[in-house]
Amino acid sequence: MNAGRAARGRFITLEGIDGAGKSSHLQSIHDWLQARGLQVVTTREPGGTPLAETLRELVLHQPMDALTEALLVFAARRDHVQQVIAPALARGVWVLCDRFTDASFAYQGGGRGFDLGLLQTLETWVQQGPPALQPDLTLWFDAPAATAAARRAAVRTPDRFEAQDEAFFDRVRAGYAARAAAAPGRFARLDAAGSREAVWQQVLAVLQARWGGLHAHTDGAGPSPSPGAVP
Ligand code: TYD
Repeated sequence: MNAGRAARGRFITLEGIDGAGKSSHLQSIHDWLQARGLQVVTTREPGGTPLAETLRELVLHQPMDALTEALLVFAARRDHVQQVIAPALARGVWVLCDRFTDASFAYQGGGRGFDLGLLQTLETWVQQGPPALQPDLTLWFDAPAATAAARRAAVRTPDRFEAQDEAFFDRVRAGYAARAAAAPGRFARLDAAGSREAVWQQVLAVLQARWGGLHAHTDGAGPSPSPGAVP
């Protein structure tokens, strides 16, 4: 398709406490990007490769201490970055990922109280730094812990994280707020307490502001815009 070296793809992550509703927007965001002629890979963390999905099962269901938990989520991330994320971005493919390293700072750092300096070291090692590979845009679906808990209760049996109390999720939320404050250009905070439609309108506004200049690609006949043309 492209004979020359492809421009780097964009890396978009979705974050928020369990029950904030982020995952329900994943497909719509994927479709919005694809309609602009972009190639998009949708993936998740922990997970995204066979090894990382195996580690995910352990992290979500086996008892373990905070250090083991942190090492496992970063081990899963290492494999995911090496096998999927970095190669896709290098090919000009956009990567849409349900959670990434901000979740480690929020859950292991904020929720569990794990040392943030050590998390930063792991981030640099695992994300091919310095400087560490970072998302271009992080959509933070922010909702109060009580709202998210009520949504979760309606859905299913909780895993090791979902079973935590409201105070844990208050700390996770504060962990996200700290990461957002440290990288305001990368983070877009969305008020996720409202209806799915109300949240989607906010997502759309962020996408339009960044990449709305890309032509909508509805007839399937025209050429795809090069990701290199994107601001
Ligand atoms: P989640 O993304 O919410 O998936 P699902 O919608 O299937 O429940 O679940 C992943 C859980 O893993 C979530 O509770 C947060 C946790 N997690 C961490 O604790 N650290 C991390 O670095 C990541 C990526 C996730």
